[in-house]
Amino acid sequence: MSGDLKWNKIFGAALGTAFVILVVKTGAEMIYETHEPEKMGYFVNAPEEAEAGAEAPALPADWGTVLPAADIAAGEAAFARCKACHTINQGGADGIGPNLFGVVGGPVTHRAGFAYSDAMIAHKAEAPNWTYDALDEFITSPARDVPGTKMSFAGLRDETTRHNLIAYLRSQGSAGYAIPAPDPARQPGAAPAEGAAPAGADAAVTEGAAAPAEGPAGAPTTQTTPAAPPAATSAPAPK
Ligand code: HEC
Repeated sequence: MSGDLKWNKIFGAALGTAFVILVVKTGAEMIYETHEPEKMGYFVNAPEEAEAGAEAPALPADWGTVLPAADIAAGEAAFARCKACHTINQGGADGIGPNLFGVVGGPVTHRAGFAYSDAMIAHKAEAPNWTYDALDEFITSPARDVPGTKMSFAGLRDETTRHNLIAYLRSQGSAGYAIPAPDPARQPGAAPAEGAAPAGADAAVTEGAAAPAEGPAGAPTTQTTPAAPPAATSAPAPK
């Protein structure tokens, strides 16, 4: 008799416990709703390189118009991105990359003591000098211009930033490298449609010190007034 009662108590307690667990679990599920993520894993948003890579470089710049109007101070600010690997002062040491004093217009692999990649040495056979066009293409996307280069730098997509930077590089030991006469065939207006596509990619790439200098000057002008060529840079160019 007393044994039966004991078992009743035990079953009762077990049942009660199970009930409590059930209530807590259901309650917890009601409070903390769990959702399956729609996509598993992390989504890394990196379309810019691919898109910009597919995008052919814009028309070669009209250096005779662009360089005299370039903002050298903005170019110096843009050079901050290069400083991790390059010095540019005369007689400056090579770092991860070669010293760049006098590189504009100079020979590709211009520093005798620097261990250039085979890719860069091969590039020299095709394009022996760092002309304005050659530099512009290289800086836009080093890996696309010289596949296999050991300059691991994504590139500068923004045209105005590149032009300013090249003007700055030229001011560091290459002032004797002539600026060509303005070339109407290279002036904008020939490619009004280009404005839209690169603008997005440019904005994404252009962060940091150079950004304020080119926002108002570069992108809007190419879209609103495709017919006015020299206005693409910050200062009005003398015709
Ligand atoms: C991560 C390091 C790194 C950064 C950042 C970098 N470079 Fe370089 N750069 C290199 C290396 C390394 C080489 C040599 C490439 C080779 O041999 O393939 C090089 C080569 C060059 C050359 C060719 C020099 C020659 O003698 O032929 C130029 C021009 C150049 N860089 C300009 C720039 C500019 C302008 C920037 C900034 C917008 C920049 N680099 C940013 C590492 C860098």
